[in-house]
Amino acid sequence: MEDPIVLENLTKDYGDNFKAVDALNLKVKRNSFIGFLGPNGAGKTTTIKMLTNLLTITSGKAYLNGVDVVSDPKSALSDIGAVVETPEFYPFLTPIETFEYLGSLRGMSKQDITKRGKEVLELVKMTDWSTVRIGKFSKGMKQRIALAQALLHEPSLIILDEPTSGLDPRGMVEVREVLLELKKRDYTVFMSSHMLNEVQEICSEVAMIDHGKLLAYDTVEALVSKVESKRLEVRLANQVSGEAMDKLRAYHGVELLNVLAPNNFQLDFKGGDEDQAGLLLFLQSQGLKIVSFKESGLALENLYMSLIKSSR
Ligand SMILES: Nc1ncnc2c1ncn2[C@@H]1O[C@H](COP(=O)(O)OP(=O)(O)OP(=O)(O)O)[C@@H](O)[C@H]1O
Ligand SMILES: [Mg+2]
Repeated sequence: MEDPIVLENLTKDYGDNFKAVDALNLKVKRNSFIGFLGPNGAGKTTTIKMLTNLLTITSGKAYLNGVDVVSDPKSALSDIGAVVETPEFYPFLTPIETFEYLGSLRGMSKQDITKRGKEVLELVKMTDWSTVRIGKFSKGMKQRIALAQALLHEPSLIILDEPTSGLDPRGMVEVREVLLELKKRDYTVFMSSHMLNEVQEICSEVAMIDHGKLLAYDTVEALVSKVESKRLEVRLANQVSGEAMDKLRAYHGVELLNVLAPNNFQLDFKGGDEDQAGLLLFLQSQGLKIVSFKESGLALENLYMSLIKSSR
């Protein structure tokens, strides 16, 4: 089977001198869950819009399941579900009515729409709201309906542009649960996001871009393992002493030490598991009563920062 997404020198020019997307090459393997990362203005939405035929391509090629998006958009997009930008629904329609409308546009039979409609509402946990007008829904609920409609025709590839953006923490958790559910099933998901914690938790692979160019594309594991230092957060039952902190600063592998509160500090540590275990013993030997000693922050965040910095 063909790779679900292939980009070949994909380029978008705005004006004479500006390339929003600059000769991007990418091959996405089936059943992967890709996080598409990059700072504001990096070209993520532009890429996604070209990929879903919402924007004309200046040069290069985009293929979905082996089909050229420009020369045969209908068939290229037939097996794709997408949510790009905040989706607008008719507020006076219920989810079921919305599915009937969208499903018929996609050539689904009435029976099929009813059956799939039920399944996707269950998947996004909106079954109880199936006959309520969408105008009454919160942003998070609308976003779950957006995901549901993208899944309605059982596509194998889902493309999402910042699915949790603009949601409150609960809304984010709810949408994230849907994404985790998708991960368990046989979908390929390509999702842009600024939420690095979310990406590290959900995605199997990460593609990072800036200035329309690819900076990194690998499994989350491989990328994270390239990050040399880890952020550790330590909480104590007693208070830190200046003397212990001075010794810690000089300890091999300790790069940055931040005392956050009298009983709480953070440090960046370079070293393997053995070294880290040794560090814990050292801290205890300094009379610190350690309540918790955990890796905080994100390896992915560190990597992101260093890649973006070097590309600017
Ligand atoms: N219609 C347009 N005309 C001119 N420039 C545009 C247009 N649309 C986007 N751009 C520019 O193209 C670049 C890429 O924009 P894009 O929206 O793809 O970034 P993004 O990675 O999605 O950013 P964000 O994280 O903020 O959503 C930006 O510099 C943007 O200003
Ligand atoms: Mg965007």
